[in-house]
Amino acid sequence: MKPKVYVTRMIPRPGIELLETYCEVAINTEDRPLSRAELLDKVRDKDGVIGLMNDRIDGDFFDAAPNLRGYANYAVGYDNIDVPEATKRRIPVSNTPDVLTDATAELAWALLFAVARRVVELDAVMRSGQWSGWGPLQFLGADVCGKTLGIVGAGRIGTAMALMSRGFRMPVIYANSSGRRNEVLEKELGASLIPFDELLERSDYISLHAPLTPQSRHLFNAKSFARMKKTAILINTGRGPLIKEDDLVQALKKGQLSGAGLDVYEFEPRMAEGLAALPNTVLLPHIGSATDTTRTNMATMAARNLLAMLRNERPETCLNPEVLAQR
Ligand code: DGY
Repeated sequence: MKPKVYVTRMIPRPGIELLETYCEVAINTEDRPLSRAELLDKVRDKDGVIGLMNDRIDGDFFDAAPNLRGYANYAVGYDNIDVPEATKRRIPVSNTPDVLTDATAELAWALLFAVARRVVELDAVMRSGQWSGWGPLQFLGADVCGKTLGIVGAGRIGTAMALMSRGFRMPVIYANSSGRRNEVLEKELGASLIPFDELLERSDYISLHAPLTPQSRHLFNAKSFARMKKTAILINTGRGPLIKEDDLVQALKKGQLSGAGLDVYEFEPRMAEGLAALPNTVLLPHIGSATDTTRTNMATMAARNLLAMLRNERPETCLNPEVLAQR
């Protein structure tokens, strides 16, 4: 009998084809996330599941899937998974690191430049036919070269984003909740690890890449915005709840920072009231990893991970490898 696998949303075909070599595969083919009740119902008889970051993988999920032998997240972030609960139940769980690092770091730069040089706002000016011709005082933005880049969370993506700054000759500073030094950034860029509050005060651009944990939730709130330079620009391609979004709207209105480029939101897919009306924001629909190649690589990585779990082998990127030793 082939193992039964469920995929909670359609992913690129190569991932599905890999699963089909070994498993009976069922997929949510509707172009919408499953409701909680649907999710729990669909996984009832499954041996393995590939899910998305908006699927909550917790005790109730594991209760609903008594045959489960592995769960593969189609995302690098895994704040949706209760990893200790999976470990308690000896269920291996995995994520998709590395394959989306460059795509996400590139998007952080796209947002940074778009906000600094008002790309979206001024594109609208052109399209509306309102431009009356070149003027010395028109549409001024902010420089990037030589400005200080602050990285919050210098993991894989934060490191890649910082390394991409080389061409722009930016001093780089970083803060890590673990306090761990990043030797690559220090060696390659002369970057320095500094306390979070100091990073807020010194950065011209702040890019968020920290994982979402109870400690990092609302790291950016009214108090943090009050410490930032009034000219600073905040970029978030990590997780929305790192920012208390209502506070960000107020801070932008008060001019406590100059702009924000966001790919992620506190309550996706909704945005805080007032955010969309602010011209100094660029707002994207969580597309950090959304390139053809990256999403395909995520799909094949998630499929390989799940197949390994179902074969009692070690998945490439297991979040609780200790359960494998116990099997
Ligand atoms: C992730 O992988 O965590 C992203 O948010 C989606 O690609």
